[in-house]
Order: sequence, then structure tokens, then C-alpha cells
Amino acid sequence: MRNVILAGNWKMNETPAQARRLLEQLRESLPKTSHEVVIFPPYLVLEHAAKAGFVKVGAQNCHFEEKGAFTGELSLPMLREVGAACVLVGHSERRQYFAETDETVRKKIAAALAQDVTPFLCVGETLPQREAGGYLEFVTGQLEAALAGLDGEAVKRTVVAYEPVWAIGTGVTATAEQAQEVCAALRGWLADRYGKEVAQEVSILYGGSMNAKNAAELLKKPDIDGGLIGGASLKPEEFASIVKTANEVKGGAR
Ligand code: 13P
Repeated sequence: MRNVILAGNWKMNETPAQARRLLEQLRESLPKTSHEVVIFPPYLVLEHAAKAGFVKVGAQNCHFEEKGAFTGELSLPMLREVGAACVLVGHSERRQYFAETDETVRKKIAAALAQDVTPFLCVGETLPQREAGGYLEFVTGQLEAALAGLDGEAVKRTVVAYEPVWAIGTGVTATAEQAQEVCAALRGWLADRYGKEVAQEVSILYGGSMNAKNAAELLKKPDIDGGLIGGASLKPEEFASIVKTANEVKGGAR
């Protein structure tokens, strides 16, 4: 069976000193769980967080080349060496503000898999795309472009996060039904392309204004295997409460 994953994307928040404090608060608040808990802190505390050892740690971005003249970038071998087990790829903020394209997303996914770092592929439509009605085709198209050239075994090692752009940081959450519809469509597309067995093993997360209040409803849905949490992951008690909710809704308390 696929993993239930609760992931916190800290984005560009917390100085190193603040991030270390947040990590300690998180250590004290998190309930015991058999689910996977991951944080994506700023690079500067990635190694520290990985050494703390009580959560999985990932990078918020990477370059697809192993090394070279790419000023300001970090490669997957560098990130892996300091303890990054995962990497976010194609987050809508990177697509929107940093010119991340389907092609760079595809290269990053392939590079992460080659380095044994789990890519968390983010897809999601904007509000105009949702209102125009073609959002299922749009998000499955993003998936198709990102996974081009990979076989089923590689796809199994990828995590997908559905993050509707209109729900990110806005306080407007997709309803559980809206999120389930898209997560089911993504899994359906995976089943058509790679077979049912592969589709059943890929964890598909929801992200976008997820919090302690709405987590239960979202996590009850059969195709939502966890959350990619922004703002609420900066509040240790709230993030811990979401993990507790996942224990209750999906099983997993230990
Ligand atoms: P918020 O939870 O702040 O809406 O952010 C979601 C997100 O972008 C996680 O990657």
C-alpha cells in the first residue's frame, strides 16, 4: 500500500535561528505515527534538520545538472549529501516567479530519481483555468509532461501533490470533493498510462490552505494520501494536529 505523507513546506520563512527553534518545537509536538512526516525547510538548515533525525527532510528546489556553471543553484548530489531525501519540483510559485517550465520540471524529476532523491511533483490549475472548465486535462497534462520518458518503476518512486494555485496561501481551500475529483483523475491517468498497480502505489497529496480544521475532511477521501502544507506547517501545534488527524482518519498512530 502507498504511504500516507504529511509534508510541511516552509517556503522562504524562518531565519536559521528561528528554523532551529521551530524544529525543536515540532519535535516536542509531533504525535507518534507510522506515516511519513517530511519538512522542506530553507536550505540553510537542511543539514541541521536532517541530523535531528525525527522527520524526513527535503529541499524546496534543485538544479537538474550534477554540477557546473549555474551560479546560485544547488545540485541533487549536494542536497543528498547534506541529508535531503526528497525535493519539491514544479511548485506553482517556482513556475510563476522563476520561469519553471514543463521541460525543466521533467529534467528535475529525472535527475532526482537518478540520484535516489524522491521528487514531490506539484501540479495544479489557476482560477481562470478552473473557471474555464478544462482543469482536469490541464493537470493531467502537467503530469504527462513531467513524467515523459519514465517507466512505471520510476513513477512509483515519485510523489504527486495536487496544489490548485487559487488555494495556495489564500485561505480558500478546495472542498474535499473538488480535491478528490482531481486526485482521482490524476490516479486514473497514471493507471491508464502505467497500469493499475503503479497508480495504486503513488502517493497523491493535496496542498492549498490545508489546516487543522479542514484536514480531516480532506484526508477522509480515498485518493488523497496526505497533505503538502504551507502556512500551517509554520505553527508546530497545528502541524502536529494535522498529523494526529491523519492518524485518526487513515490509521497510523504508533
Ligand atoms: P498554504 O498551505 O500556505 O496554502 O501553501 C500550500 C503550498 O503551497 C505547499 O507547498
